[in-house]
Amino acid sequence: MGETVKDMFAAIAGRYDRLNSVLSLGLHHYWRRRTVTASGLRRSATILDLCSGTADLALAFAGRDGRVVATDFCDAMLARGRCKAARHRAPIAFALADAQRLPFRDASFDAVSVAFGLRNVGCLATALGEMYRVLRPGGVAVVLEFGQPQGAVFGPLYRFYSRYLLPRLGGWLSGHSEAYAYLPRTAAVFPAGVRFMQAMREQNFTDIQARPLTGGVVYIYRAVRPDRGD
Ligand SMILES: C[S@@+](CC[C@H](N)C(=O)[O-])C[C@H]1O[C@@H](n2cnc3c(N)ncnc32)[C@H](O)[C@@H]1O
Repeated sequence: MGETVKDMFAAIAGRYDRLNSVLSLGLHHYWRRRTVTASGLRRSATILDLCSGTADLALAFAGRDGRVVATDFCDAMLARGRCKAARHRAPIAFALADAQRLPFRDASFDAVSVAFGLRNVGCLATALGEMYRVLRPGGVAVVLEFGQPQGAVFGPLYRFYSRYLLPRLGGWLSGHSEAYAYLPRTAAVFPAGVRFMQAMREQNFTDIQARPLTGGVVYIYRAVRPDRGD
């Protein structure tokens, strides 16, 4: 499963950014900015970004006084991120890492972030457990992920877009139809909203908040690893 996902992202790495902008109508930049704001992090925080891909969320966090480490298990995606960071002179460190087995010590980051990554990992509970482990007590996890918009009008419209238009458009523009069939398939079954909050609670996170954006197309989750003694 992991190897298939890795190969799929390697195959679309070169077109990933353009497709993101087209398929989200440019909204993904706004969602990432809102994620940085929602994190509430001080400017000197050390941040680990998981499933970083081409590093757009890491770049949104960079340019602060702290340290940003961008990780992914797909070298081809990270390579695009490295080039972008160099172009923007963004002080980001890069490391190949599987989100389910992070090569970092316990309690070594002030924050862990992940955008559109968790729905791809083999075991969500393991990845959330790893996020918790590498966070220092009092540290913050912030997650940006797709939801399943409801609502009498917008819900069906969005489902039509994501089930029929997005896979065709994505497949056509990327030349990789399976990757853009995979996206809405995984988004449709991701345990969004209260179910994701429950998954975080089961890994001992506290102060869990979920904020829907764009009618629930995406959610920003924020949660805390409790301080010792909490
Ligand atoms: C949809 S992309 C998101 C990339 C980036 N975070 C963004 O917001 O554009 C998902 C990324 O997760 C990575 N990924 C999937 N499973 C992973 C895992 N188990 N460990 C690390 N990275 C993983 C993929 O290689 C891919 O780069």
